[in-house]
Amino acid sequence: MSLIENIIRPEIRDLSAYHVPEAEAYLKLDAMENPYTLPPDLQQELAQRLARVALNRYPAPSYTALKQAIQDKLGVPAGREIVLGNGSDELIAMISTACAKAGAKVLAPVPTFVMYAISAQFSGLEFIGLPLRADFTLDLAAMLAAIAEHKPAITYLAYPNNPTGALYDAADIAEILRAVGDSGVVVVDEAYQPFAQTSFMPRLAEFDNLVVMRTVSKLGLAGIRLGYMAGNNALMQEFEKVRPPYNINVLSQAAAEFVLQHVDVLEAQAAELRSQRTALMAALADLPGVEVFPSAANFVLIRVANAEQVFAKLLEQKILVKNVGRMHKLLENCLRITVSTSEENALFLAALAASLSSK
Ligand SMILES: Cc1ncc(COP(=O)(O)O)c(C=O)c1O
Repeated sequence: MSLIENIIRPEIRDLSAYHVPEAEAYLKLDAMENPYTLPPDLQQELAQRLARVALNRYPAPSYTALKQAIQDKLGVPAGREIVLGNGSDELIAMISTACAKAGAKVLAPVPTFVMYAISAQFSGLEFIGLPLRADFTLDLAAMLAAIAEHKPAITYLAYPNNPTGALYDAADIAEILRAVGDSGVVVVDEAYQPFAQTSFMPRLAEFDNLVVMRTVSKLGLAGIRLGYMAGNNALMQEFEKVRPPYNINVLSQAAAEFVLQHVDVLEAQAAELRSQRTALMAALADLPGVEVFPSAANFVLIRVANAEQVFAKLLEQKILVKNVGRMHKLLENCLRITVSTSEENALFLAALAASLSSK
């Protein structure tokens, strides 16, 4: 037996590492980033703030000021405890770690955000992916049956969903929350909330098993890696126990505290992206051979006749989108495109039109 076989769990050896393509010199429309930066005056002010940060010190692990800023500026109800993650990816890992009792299961409608399944696998939890309907709406009856059969410890609902962009019916989510009851948590993942403008955050008091998870990534701060979740305080205290003590570094902490004082700038960018989304979807719908799915996020899912070919032709034109066609059979021939500035969207549309017409 080799060293690797001796020490590495077989299910980890079977995985391939999460692949993120190099995108230098490409028009990057694959990762749902906000294309706008901070205005120069705020960049200057932020630089001065960051210059004063005590890099020689560990962060103060309570993160009181940062949590307060999140509460005040991002709509977390007063009195709710917040748990911070190095991106919501880390929050998902923390929930898995805390809930990984022997035999515990994780349920999510699929296709969805891949980290739910990956994180479950890392923690030795069984992941049950229940197919969405062909139009990417939730199959509520199948979800309720799966909840009754499997009693999942964790149910993930991305609201809106990635990579489909669909926003599930709020009444269906409420029914799932009630069906799960006290046998599990239901994580409503609102990573794209700035573009959906609807939220379960104001409904936390209604459901003891509801966890609302968010990130500042899509709002314009993907680089600082900051996610947060709120839910019933007793549950948050348990999740807090598995949080690495200094997971938010001092630079991210200072940057988030500063930018959240100017959250109106990010909100205006999100509003602009919402109107760009409307324009992009209309232009896509006008292209022959393109099916456009409804989106409440900052990306649009389309289906073409041959996604592999269109993806390759876009790459030749230095445009990177996400080819999700092989992720799940429901996504056959689908591409996911991040909504960007009007200039970048126009470049993409022209390149897509050329890709569709060339052989
Ligand atoms: C539904 C969903 N949740 C969470 C994340 C991860 O966000 P973060 O950048 O905070 O790790 C993503 C990223 O694409 C996502 O699509």
